[in-house]
Amino acid sequence: MNKRVSAVVLVSGGGTNLQALLDAVEDGSLDIDIAAVISNTAQAQALDRAQRYGVPALCIPSAGKTRDAYEKELTDAILQYEPDCIVFAGYLRVLTDTFFTGLRGFTGPLFNIHPSLLPAFGGEGMYGSNVHTAVIKSGAKISGCTVHLVTGDVDAGPIVMQAAVPVLSTDTPETLAARVLAQEHVLYPRALRAFAEGRLRFEKTRVIITPKEPLDGAVLYSEE
Ligand code: GRF
Repeated sequence: MNKRVSAVVLVSGGGTNLQALLDAVEDGSLDIDIAAVISNTAQAQALDRAQRYGVPALCIPSAGKTRDAYEKELTDAILQYEPDCIVFAGYLRVLTDTFFTGLRGFTGPLFNIHPSLLPAFGGEGMYGSNVHTAVIKSGAKISGCTVHLVTGDVDAGPIVMQAAVPVLSTDTPETLAARVLAQEHVLYPRALRAFAEGRLRFEKTRVIITPKEPLDGAVLYSEE
């Protein structure tokens, strides 16, 4: 039997995306082994979620140390689990070369989820409600979320899967965030399932999914 694909999940906050992954593993719709959850802050509610599922939950504080020292410590911790992939789920630190160099020898993908349809509304400073405020201000009619690969350029790695939601004229950043987040919870398990099933092919700037997802990877959501 093939070894289950394993993942280390990096978090900083509430961990609702982590919860969606834990739920999908538990209900059998996502066949991966979440080997550990690592947070850069002890306050992350995500750590409690991991513990409740018996998943090793580590805090490696980023505060009070140099960026280099922190990133070295983080990569050492990740590599001890020998994961097949690294999953960023609401991890709020921007990582530098030390992190990527520290992962030398690790050949698996690094996944992130971002609450907009990249390449729009991404990059430094585009996190949390900043994203949704900018989307509303732009007048865009459609927003969504993107699972993409993490590279040294913030939010600019190859796109794996996207889901779209409407932007309503009555939206506030909070209502739009909630609509997008609900789709994140569907999309992330779905993207990782495609990886676990060996259906992702990584090209230089693109990720090809075969067999393709229904609607070619787009989960379309419309109001009743
Ligand atoms: C999500 O909106 C995700 O797209 C972004 O950070 C948020 C994390 O939420 N990267 P949670 O911690 O998973 O609830």
